[in-house]
Amino acid sequence: MSKKNKHTEVFNSFNIIVFGGDGDLALRKIYPALFHRDQDGQLLCPYNIIAITRRNPQEFDFYTLLNKFLTESKDKETDPLDIEKFASKVKLIHIENTSIEHYCELVNYLNSFQDYQNIFYFSTPSSAFGPIAKTLKESGLIHPSSKVVLEKPLGYSLTSSNEINNEITQAFDDHQIYRIDHYLGKETVQNLMVLRFANNLFERAWDSEHIDNIQITVAETLGVEKRAAYYDNSGALLDMVQNHLLQLLCLVAMEPPHELGPDEVRNEKLKVLRALRPITRKNVNKDTVKGQYTRGTIQGEEVQSYLEDIEKFGSKTETFVAIKTYIDNWRWKDVPFYLRTGKRMFKKYSEIVINFKEVRHNIFPSKEKLNNNKLIIRLQPEERIELVQMTKIPGPGGYRYKPIALKLDYIDSFKERFPEAYERLIIDVIRGNQTLFMSQDELQAAWNWIESITSNWKATNQPNILYEAGTWGPGDDVLDDDCSWVTKTWRE
Ligand code: BG6
Repeated sequence: MSKKNKHTEVFNSFNIIVFGGDGDLALRKIYPALFHRDQDGQLLCPYNIIAITRRNPQEFDFYTLLNKFLTESKDKETDPLDIEKFASKVKLIHIENTSIEHYCELVNYLNSFQDYQNIFYFSTPSSAFGPIAKTLKESGLIHPSSKVVLEKPLGYSLTSSNEINNEITQAFDDHQIYRIDHYLGKETVQNLMVLRFANNLFERAWDSEHIDNIQITVAETLGVEKRAAYYDNSGALLDMVQNHLLQLLCLVAMEPPHELGPDEVRNEKLKVLRALRPITRKNVNKDTVKGQYTRGTIQGEEVQSYLEDIEKFGSKTETFVAIKTYIDNWRWKDVPFYLRTGKRMFKKYSEIVINFKEVRHNIFPSKEKLNNNKLIIRLQPEERIELVQMTKIPGPGGYRYKPIALKLDYIDSFKERFPEAYERLIIDVIRGNQTLFMSQDELQAAWNWIESITSNWKATNQPNILYEAGTWGPGDDVLDDDCSWVTKTWRE
């Protein structure tokens, strides 16, 4: 079968209008995602891509940039002519501000595609979401078939997130709103659902009776890159935990939904978020650790400190956070969940480790420790699943055993290309499936819990613990004994 005729689903024709259309996210993720879906033959319907830029197009060369990013994202076999063809389809419109007269060109253009669905993709700072939505509404561009995609961060607190939501819902109905968390579009994150709910083996042992603890780690070698202003207002907690790590936690901990519909899945995730035990003033210093990187070396390359990166001395923003938390429900009673993430770490990797309890009674004469089983779900950079189990060491010397991992390497098992998270998510927006997008209730519940941390960090003036770039974050030498869980649980 040819590459181009494997898809049969034909979507309704669409215009995708990207606000912040010359931004890093649009160039690195959104256009390449559309390009790959187009190349894969999935965009069988007519469509238009419109990049909205606030910058004067005379001051920068949008198409050179677009070509560069598409080329960087391409497969070996992609024909450069296809890139050019695709790039020339992206229409650039300059809109300097949200006053209605600046929207004329966009209105005229979209009016010539009246029967297309309009997908507005907001990839700007979230403070602009409300004003853009208002002008779109006043310009008559929002129809019942229109949708809006909202990029994170959706505010900086529960209050600001609610304010943004109120502004957006004055222009769009809830079923038109797609709050994106790109972790939910990752192939391996999706596989978590299959692993849990398509295998009887695991689900039977998925509770506090069998599981000792669960660890979710997202370690990055990257620093803050060109996003100093944004990052310094967010920090690791808001940039990574509030969304990506909590979403992973939800998928690991939620009850089986009765089917894979958006309401069913999102409601189960919501229950997990609502059951997260709040961090209190009493335990904040021992159940959370925040850190900031200093100068160091990563893979042989010297890197600057966070403060040098952002050129703002005295910043108290954390670039590392570790949290020990619990889910107060029947299934997870007293099972600690360890969440950890940091920038400028020793190595890039994301994984979820399910540590099972030890067997109840050791029958083997040596009484040598029986390591507990582990299910390791490696999300990136290499996607694989490992099940660590005790195995007899061959030979006549009695029962000697050691832990051995059964490995399922995704790359070896499946030859096809793994689509990027944004490819799946954008297709779901076009298709109209909200399952992989966060509901406002989820967002509120996540903020409630996050604010139990931020408010107590503030109340106790919890300091950042410095760590050298290129390490695993704050080490035992600088951590209080109460926080020894932070280092004990690193696996790499
Ligand atoms: C983004 C964060 O949401 O996720 C970034 O804003 C982070 O700071 C990125 O680097 C990590 O995503 P991924 O897909 O590379 O793990």
